[in-house]
Amino acid sequence: MCGIFGIVTSRDEPLGQLLTEASKRLSYRGYDSVGCATLTSDGTVDLRKDVGKVDEVAARLRFHEMRGTRGIAQLRWATFGAPSQANAQPHLDSDGDLVGAHNGNVVNNVELREAFISEGMTLRSTNDGETCVHAVERYVNQGYSMLDAIRRAYEDLEGDYAFVIGRVDENRMYAFKKGSGLVAGVTDGSAVVSSDLPSILPLTPNILRIEDGEIAILEPGRIELRRVEDGRSVEREIETVTETMEEAQKGGYAHFMLKEIHEQPRRAGEMLHLFDASPYVTAMVERMKTARNLYLVACGTSYHACLLGATYIARLAGRPAIPVLAPQFVPQYVPAVGPEDVGVFVSQSGETKDVLLALEASRPRGLQPLGLLNVIGSTLMRESRVYLPLACGYEISVPATKTFLNQALAFLYLALRMGGHSTADLHGLPDLLEKTIITTGLQIGDLEGDLARRDDLYCLGYGLTYPIALEGALKMKEVTYAHCEGMLSTEFKHGPLSAVTEGYPVIFVSGPEDVARVVSGINEVTCRGGRAIAVGEEDPRLRANAHDLIMLPKAGPLLNPLLAVIPLQLLAYRLSVARGYDPDFPRNLSKTLTVD
Ligand code: AGP
Repeated sequence: MCGIFGIVTSRDEPLGQLLTEASKRLSYRGYDSVGCATLTSDGTVDLRKDVGKVDEVAARLRFHEMRGTRGIAQLRWATFGAPSQANAQPHLDSDGDLVGAHNGNVVNNVELREAFISEGMTLRSTNDGETCVHAVERYVNQGYSMLDAIRRAYEDLEGDYAFVIGRVDENRMYAFKKGSGLVAGVTDGSAVVSSDLPSILPLTPNILRIEDGEIAILEPGRIELRRVEDGRSVEREIETVTETMEEAQKGGYAHFMLKEIHEQPRRAGEMLHLFDASPYVTAMVERMKTARNLYLVACGTSYHACLLGATYIARLAGRPAIPVLAPQFVPQYVPAVGPEDVGVFVSQSGETKDVLLALEASRPRGLQPLGLLNVIGSTLMRESRVYLPLACGYEISVPATKTFLNQALAFLYLALRMGGHSTADLHGLPDLLEKTIITTGLQIGDLEGDLARRDDLYCLGYGLTYPIALEGALKMKEVTYAHCEGMLSTEFKHGPLSAVTEGYPVIFVSGPEDVARVVSGINEVTCRGGRAIAVGEEDPRLRANAHDLIMLPKAGPLLNPLLAVIPLQLLAYRLSVARGYDPDFPRNLSKTLTVD
């Protein structure tokens, strides 16, 4: 989840400042460490890196002194391996002839590292970027050319990543990718490559997008593409982009919120790959399975993921889990917890004070704290006995979208494992999410006009979709400033039904198993003149009874909630924009709440 940048020039130049500036342009992705390496024409390597902010590390390590014909900059956003000087990138091979950096995740990192150590290579960190360097070194040591060594290394490295590497005695660099993005650019006297278009744009608008299965060879003023499969050349026209830096950072989307909604299929896939290969999943599952009491503790959106998680765990693992808002955990449960109990503390930022205070309060009583978090190196990570990363990359928009999806998916994964079920079917989720974004994005267009004028609405769900209704309502409130209440659909008749008047909008989120029950609720609203908007799989009962049906792809009861949240996120986003607000930075709110 990091950012990489590389450059090749024809003669030794002061590259340090250029690499620092490129790093700054990558920083919108979020990072914990920064590093630069330069290689000179006479074969020396200068490597400087550390934990910290770009300006601070660049000044302290005097990046501006760095010179060479080739340079690599990397910003690290840790997924595995704590943020540290050793884990910061770029990395060297055993004898310092190769230098490289990656972004993304190599999921067979542990196995490869063990193999490299047993083959006699020198490893200096636990970071998977270093593994990529040694993967190439292995074949260079066997006498292969750089191109052929990379072609073989590509087959060995599993995961979603992009990688750039240089060798002291060749005035060129090589870059390739699997899953992650990678773009190269060419100027008269140089060639550049990066995980992110914005870091290239000020240098050149002339770019080449690198595809999976291709190796880009960068030389001063030219880029050559070769196929991994057989080493043959690939012809591709240079394209000229017209995007501004800001547009490029938003990936062509108008707001980060929309970009992050669209990132969900990819982020879900990346987290599943990580979990499949992670020993920490087993450690977490064992502790959750054997706990006397299992608490799921969080705030806001993360709490909604806990609510869904508890329902998944009951259904798939046959054991109760207690979802609880972090501040309420303290008076309601902490006095009764003990060392046999487990708390899964869930937080995107890992810094929410309410969550950390709850963990702190339970410590003297011996509760075992586990973490589910997106920010590696966060306080929650350090306080957790075992943690799992959400692998979402930096979430810029204040409303949590992609992190919610991966929190909920992580719970589904853990619940399946706790119950001894296969997780193989989850790999179909990214495609279903992609389809849902496209199809529901079109369907909600009809609702926007009416709903954008409303200052009051409800969002109801039942069973597995109850937490989704709460999450949809929170998103709506957060970015549209309208009052939107989330509720269990069966509770609506116990009071709020009195609010319904002609045209009053009520959204019903339905799982495929709950349609009969939801249809009763729909009729209670429509017979009083309200407008019932159903979100669910195609079902004649929903179609016949609701005014509108936002149809989800058929996915079954377990995956349905993960799809159902998409149209609610999209609707909240569109209504926010229609009402003239900035969904990325809603008034009065902050991304990370480090206050009581
Ligand atoms: C959701 O869109 C919010 N930004 C908010 O509810 C958030 O989920 C809550 O503050 C908890 O944050 P955390 O996951 O970083 O702990």
